Amino acid sequence: MRKKQVLLLKVGVVVWICILCVLFIHKPTTPSSSQKSQDLSNQLDKLEDELNGQSEFYNGLLDKLRIIQQHEESNNGDADGSLHQEGPVLPVLLIACNRESAVRRSLDLLLKYRPSQERFPIIVSQDCGHRPTREAIESYGDKVTLIQQPDLSEIEVPLKEKKFKGYFLISRHYKWALNQIFQKFNYEVVIIVEDDLDVAPDFFEYFLATYPILRADPTLWCVSAWNDNGKPELVDVKNGTNLLYRTDFFPGLGWMMTKDLWKELGPKWPRSYWDDWVRAPEQRADRACIRPEVSRTRTFGKKGVSNGLFYEKHLKQIHLSNIYTPFTKLNLTYLIKDQYDLAFQRSVQASQVVSIGDVKAGRLNKSISYRLIYHTKDNFKKITKSLGLMDDFRAGVPRTGYKGVITFFHRGLRLHLSPGNNWNGYNPSWS
Ligand SMILES: *[C@@H]1O[C@H](CO)[C@@H](O)[C@H](O)[C@H]1NC(C)=O
Ligand SMILES: *[C@@H]1O[C@H](CO)[C@@H](O)[C@H](O)[C@H]1NC(C)=O
Ligand SMILES: *[C@@H]1O[C@H](CO)[C@@H](O)[C@H](O)[C@H]1NC(C)=O
Repeated sequence: MRKKQVLLLKVGVVVWICILCVLFIHKPTTPSSSQKSQDLSNQLDKLEDELNGQSEFYNGLLDKLRIIQQHEESNNGDADGSLHQEGPVLPVLLIACNRESAVRRSLDLLLKYRPSQERFPIIVSQDCGHRPTREAIESYGDKVTLIQQPDLSEIEVPLKEKKFKGYFLISRHYKWALNQIFQKFNYEVVIIVEDDLDVAPDFFEYFLATYPILRADPTLWCVSAWNDNGKPELVDVKNGTNLLYRTDFFPGLGWMMTKDLWKELGPKWPRSYWDDWVRAPEQRADRACIRPEVSRTRTFGKKGVSNGLFYEKHLKQIHLSNIYTPFTKLNLTYLIKDQYDLAFQRSVQASQVVSIGDVKAGRLNKSISYRLIYHTKDNFKKITKSLGLMDDFRAGVPRTGYKGVITFFHRGLRLHLSPGNNWNGYNPSWS
């Protein structure tokens, strides 16, 4: 309705000017009368002044109408419940190659839960030049932005690593795509997903709420939506969806990093195996990630590069949270290092030390937490195997570990698998 009024006004001004022009310019005058010509000239000057005055008046009116219109539009936004109109922009980078149905599945869920296109632009980066996949992405129209990795040249792979060529291609793609995000699009932060992830309903809410924490704490370098020990029998599915932790193990699989971190990692980005490279002490430099108790992503399987057995035994079984947690309404400052470490160490110390036999027997009181202690790598492997926890290490760090401690939930018990009190850091020779 406002638009109509503005248009009517504009038309009115134009008609008004035309009428005045016709009236004055075509007014019959006696030729060769210099006096009359002077009069006409004066009248035209006067008219010009008047028109200028009126034009200012109408412009002022138009400006007022525009302000009213804008105000109304923003009020309508609130009424629709579309909050999130103001605040940081958190772009999602979706890494894709040649799997059109996987891309569709990933995008459908991201779009289903995305609260705002402006706040969470989705950029799909496609490598591999696969036409059906490109067409699948294009079919989403302006809901997503497609960028295409231009370097489709054969990649140089050492002879011994021929069968790992996929890892080299992925690394090259990541480097190009992240440079686009931070240098071309000039975003401050990015949430990275691959084309094999389902996301939880509060996926965007989770990253929105943890973003200020990531910015505020230099000892954090990522937020991940993934729990490596997120099988249903190892997490508190019912009551733990709001629980978040720090971890020394980089989880990946739906994760957020800042432009500052890319400035640091981008120039030395490796030619392959980027995730294990990120986990090396030279890169990690003692920094931690935030991870949830209950995963906000689940992988639905990779063809090609990833190990099929690992997928069947572990990745496939991770429980995807289906309860929406309003993270932005929670006070998450407890995740900042000083506060977290103090509370965390107190909680581990205060836990009652038990044996794996006690846990298995199922007679422990569920109202307190417990501590299982390991001293050697074999100790650790024995306990993790018997409980179904991940038992591998990267640069000596076990999955989900924080200060050597794996925190999990089993048969209604809160448990810390923890080293002894004389622990003095990860042993990189543990693998
Ligand atoms: C649920 O979790 C909260 C902490 O998030 C805890 O205080 C409460 O005791 C838990 N309730 C049950 C039934 O475990
Ligand atoms: C958030 O929690 C911390 C303690 O972890 C407290 O000091 C701070 O005042 C709380 N902030 C708000 C806004 O409640
Ligand atoms: C468990 O511990 C709580 C508090 O320590 C106590 O009140 C309760 O009786 C205990 N339950 C059992 C079954 O021992």
